[in-house]
Amino acid sequence: MPNPIDYFISLFRGQLDLPSELSAYYRPRPYRNSAVRFRGCSIADFEERRRILVDEAGLNAFLFRADKIPGCDLLSDSGTTTMTSEQWAAMLLGDEAYGSNEGYFDLKEQVGATFGPAWRQKSGLRVGDREPLFIFHQGRAAENAFFSVLSRELKQKGLPAPKPLSGDLLPELRSRIERRAKTVKGHGTASPQPFFIVPSNSHFDTTEGNIEDKFMVPLNLPCREHLANDETFPFRGNMDLDELENLLENERERVPLVYITITNNTGGGQPVSMENIKRVREITRRHKVPFFFDACRFAENAWFVQQKEEGYAGRRVEDIVREMFAHADGFHISFKKDGLGNIGGAICLREESFFTEKFPHFANEITDYQIMTEGHPTYGGLAGRDLKALAEGLRTVTRQEYLDYRIAQVQRFGGRLAALGIPVVHPIGGHAIYIDIDKFFDGAARDDEFKGIAFTSLMLIAGHRVCELGLYAFGSFDGEKEIPPEPRVNNVRAAVPRLAYEDQDLFAAAEAMKLLYDHRDRIPGVRVEYGRDLKLRHFKSRFSFLG
Ligand code: F0G
Repeated sequence: MPNPIDYFISLFRGQLDLPSELSAYYRPRPYRNSAVRFRGCSIADFEERRRILVDEAGLNAFLFRADKIPGCDLLSDSGTTTMTSEQWAAMLLGDEAYGSNEGYFDLKEQVGATFGPAWRQKSGLRVGDREPLFIFHQGRAAENAFFSVLSRELKQKGLPAPKPLSGDLLPELRSRIERRAKTVKGHGTASPQPFFIVPSNSHFDTTEGNIEDKFMVPLNLPCREHLANDETFPFRGNMDLDELENLLENERERVPLVYITITNNTGGGQPVSMENIKRVREITRRHKVPFFFDACRFAENAWFVQQKEEGYAGRRVEDIVREMFAHADGFHISFKKDGLGNIGGAICLREESFFTEKFPHFANEITDYQIMTEGHPTYGGLAGRDLKALAEGLRTVTRQEYLDYRIAQVQRFGGRLAALGIPVVHPIGGHAIYIDIDKFFDGAARDDEFKGIAFTSLMLIAGHRVCELGLYAFGSFDGEKEIPPEPRVNNVRAAVPRLAYEDQDLFAAAEAMKLLYDHRDRIPGVRVEYGRDLKLRHFKSRFSFLG
């Protein structure tokens, strides 16, 4: 008879070695609740939710009162993080000085520690030293500043001569650019006009909006595995390297910089491999074009590299993050995701790079922009206490046990939905589940009926909030007919806030979706009562059920 403690230790240990779905039942979360919020409403308040949804919100999920959602609020993973006790403690130590508050120095130090030495101010704090960190109140404010200053700098340098696109561009790529250029206001139909092109694996919609606003053409170059829906390929967020090479070979003058969004939110929260990042670096270096990240979910991306990419198993997430960022000339970031903050964003510029070489006045100009719009650069539109919370958030977000649990929870939620028969997009990404609405309705989702909106409305009646990111959010109305997004995407997204929900909450949302799925033939489309022709219409429109 072995010692009973030895016997049971080996039994318990064996459970932890089971495949992750099974071992999950034996593994507690790597944190526990230290403050909770009672919801103040009940899952049984169906009639009240009907009244709010129909009378107040006009079936628009953004306009539904959050305090009346008893279940999961999966509208976004942005700014919705439950902060840690350490973050709250750091906030209490916030120093609200107008200039050079303590949080500013903490955040600057932590940005260097998290992203690597290139992002640390090199020479200490002497007057005239170049700042690598420019703080803004959120990601899109940073993007707006970035493209405002960039377009000014480009104009000063002189626009490229107005000439047609090169005949050596891949034909499909060329016609995609021409089509896209036509939809950028200010270009009319004349592709020979001078214009700049900003390529990315996939731009997020605010980045795209900010690029277009400056009369530049945002261009998505997602990898083929993504377009072909190859579900076995683990890095579907990658960029298409052949198209990038061809673009830079023939139209380098028009490309002020190249982007990669990590993880690729628009493409389903899919990660980008280190290999792809390195190859993009190599191509952009050869053509002397700056390379930037939209870095919102950098830690989740690094976790996927560690788990799925050859040669990275056993490497520390912290080291993978630094390796990723060693390849970039700059990045902008919304700290509302992997900063684990409720607010905050930034631009970071490497001191010596293609970018600073090409645009030597940029850092100074962006500082002026901060002063005009966000306040002194040492607080950038944030309270000193927010900066403290962000520094602490950046310390937490790369912890292995945090990321293991965070992403496993998202995957379990997606796995549960798939097991219930709901058509989720595979492979499941890092922060959200995407439900394919065309498949959900067996292809019966007519373009003009916006069944995705109907689905989100009925989820609110059930007590949970999800977000339509499909024909309504990404399509447009030309006055006569709907123009669907290209390539066609018709998803509803359930984004999982960080550190906020337990599996039980998410599984309750899954059960509600299953009920809707089983009765999908009873779900009508919606009529747009207001806002169909507006820009950014999904934030503002009102709807009613058809029939
Ligand atoms: N870039 C990406 C990839 C994003 O996902 C977001 C925001 C932004 C930039 C803008 O940052 O919100 O701080 O201004 N995404 C949120 C979402 C809103 O729900 O996916 P922000």
